[in-house]
Amino acid sequence: MIVLKGAPVSQKIQTEIESELSLWKSQGMQLPHLSVILVGTNPASEIYVKRKQEMCKKLGFSSEVIKLGEETTESEIQKIILNLNQNLKVDGILVQLPLPNHINARNVLESIDAGKDVDCLTEKNLGKLLTDRAIIKPCTPSGIIEMFKFYGIELRGKNIAVIGRSLIVGTPLMHLLLKENASVSIFHSKSENISQQLKNFDIVCVAVGKANIFKYSEFKKDAVIIDVGMNRSPDGLIGDVLNDSDSTPNQIKAATPVPGGVGLMTIAMLMKNTLTLAALHRKQAL
Ligand code: GUN
Repeated sequence: MIVLKGAPVSQKIQTEIESELSLWKSQGMQLPHLSVILVGTNPASEIYVKRKQEMCKKLGFSSEVIKLGEETTESEIQKIILNLNQNLKVDGILVQLPLPNHINARNVLESIDAGKDVDCLTEKNLGKLLTDRAIIKPCTPSGIIEMFKFYGIELRGKNIAVIGRSLIVGTPLMHLLLKENASVSIFHSKSENISQQLKNFDIVCVAVGKANIFKYSEFKKDAVIIDVGMNRSPDGLIGDVLNDSDSTPNQIKAATPVPGGVGLMTIAMLMKNTLTLAALHRKQAL
């Protein structure tokens, strides 16, 4: 089984960003700035935000994390976002999800200026994605497409299952796979008999967020598995798919590991999106 590591793919993206930024530096241009809003104390979110900040530092972006208490109101968050929208130094605004239950995440996301929406989560940017006018694409789905390309995995004409229909992964991933001419089936929490259907698919992307709900031996022989899950367990971070390749060593062809797979790509694509939006802002300022 081939392990589809995220690190070399992320490194390729980082190298591209670094070479672009060295041009920026030589021309005295202001480097990209990302503002991250973190509400509450979700431990997983705290770790993800820290990783995003570390990557900003590594690449030379400036960044800030605005930490807000669990009890912060929707309008307080929106006020902060409106200030960031107006701040010419800010190129990208990211609201780490999930937000506490008392907050309507859609209302919050819609207050982000679409030109600073690095996650591609506003209605405007999602609409552009569906109409092929996207300037940036959602981080995790576009990171998965980068992995397929890097590892030479053909998508055209393949039967691909996407399990999970979130607006952040499953739904935009479906669209990006369609654009690559794959045949895509979406499964979700109300789908019946998912397990019996798994063997029909050449590629399965699992973005459910529940530890070990499938196992490698359940998939078609020579399937490729993309595991988007990042679940905390006593053994550390684990995916949505259990690696039982010890019992059936030759069942699947390739799979992404957790950790070290898709998660690295989400961060790399976030940096790429921030750079893309910053480049637009610099052009607009001319
Ligand atoms: N929570 C988990 N993944 C993500 C992501 O890619 N973006 C945001 N904003 N929140 C997340």
